[in-house]
Amino acid sequence: MLIRSKKDWELPESVVTAEDRYRRRNRRDFLKHLGVGTAGALLGGHSLFGASGGFPSSANPAYLPGDLKVTPYDLITSYNNFYEFGLGKDEPKVNANMGWMSEPWTVEIGGQVRNPLKLDVNELIKKVGGIEQRVYRHRCVEAWSMVVPWDGFALSKLVALADPKPEAKFLQMTTFFDPKNVPGQRTNNLDWPYLEGLRLDEANNELSFIATGIYGRPIPNQNGAPLRLVVPWKYGFKGVKSIVKFDFTTRQPRNTWQVMAPQEYGFYANVNPKVDHPRWSQATERVIGSGFFAGKQDTLMFNGYEKQVASLYGGLDLRRNY
Ligand code: MTE
Repeated sequence: MLIRSKKDWELPESVVTAEDRYRRRNRRDFLKHLGVGTAGALLGGHSLFGASGGFPSSANPAYLPGDLKVTPYDLITSYNNFYEFGLGKDEPKVNANMGWMSEPWTVEIGGQVRNPLKLDVNELIKKVGGIEQRVYRHRCVEAWSMVVPWDGFALSKLVALADPKPEAKFLQMTTFFDPKNVPGQRTNNLDWPYLEGLRLDEANNELSFIATGIYGRPIPNQNGAPLRLVVPWKYGFKGVKSIVKFDFTTRQPRNTWQVMAPQEYGFYANVNPKVDHPRWSQATERVIGSGFFAGKQDTLMFNGYEKQVASLYGGLDLRRNY
């Protein structure tokens, strides 16, 4: 992005462990893979079988890994962009776990809706009918990629719960603002709080997802606990983390990276191998965890989700609306 951080080939080899055995096609295998027996287990202090966060989740058969090689848990949770907790990829894992609390967590849903709400995140998860697992490609605008098994719920369920008025055309989502406890927010590295937006029809697309977990476990702070946006056909920066507010608006919101560098980042941010970033190519991507020499692959239009989303952009010039 704007600020270059440590090169990823500096990742210690120890974290690049093969976890390609993760290709499970049903939930029992999925849990077994995590080392979880049928009686339940404690992972990182969270019970997979507790009521909190809606776990355990069940796999959505439409989003099984298939041929995708799922990135190891250790990499997904140690190679992060979360500027609130530092600019280096390895910093959020450390800094987001030094006393900053993502629990309890209140979420506000408002703007042009018939059903404004202010509620605890676990209450929200209950109201949208619980969570499911989906394996998605994850492509950062910096030209690296992963494959992540998310847990969470379809964003369309939150939209339905809010019951938007006809004048609502966009959904703006905002990260917490807590400069006292969060070091990055005491700097001017970004325009805080981080915010992102979608057109309402994008928010209602079947792929748009609110993640509350990874690998069947509550989502770690560094990945955006307790809830973050996942829109896999767009560059990763659209995936706003640790959301406190969902605001239904009549006007297109200004998203943080567009505010920071409008000549480089737009509102749409659809993955597009034919439209290069002004400073680098977007034709290929480095697959995180695939080793030093291997690991470049061609980037796919809409990150491989063309079938699900191309119809959203009929008539839109994707070179201008990047
Ligand atoms: N959300 C907030 N609040 N702050 C951030 O710095 N970084 C974005 C996005 N969401 C960011 C954020 C970027 S650039 C990317 S690529 C993804 O989060 C990274 O998500 P990950 O760390 O789970 O891979």
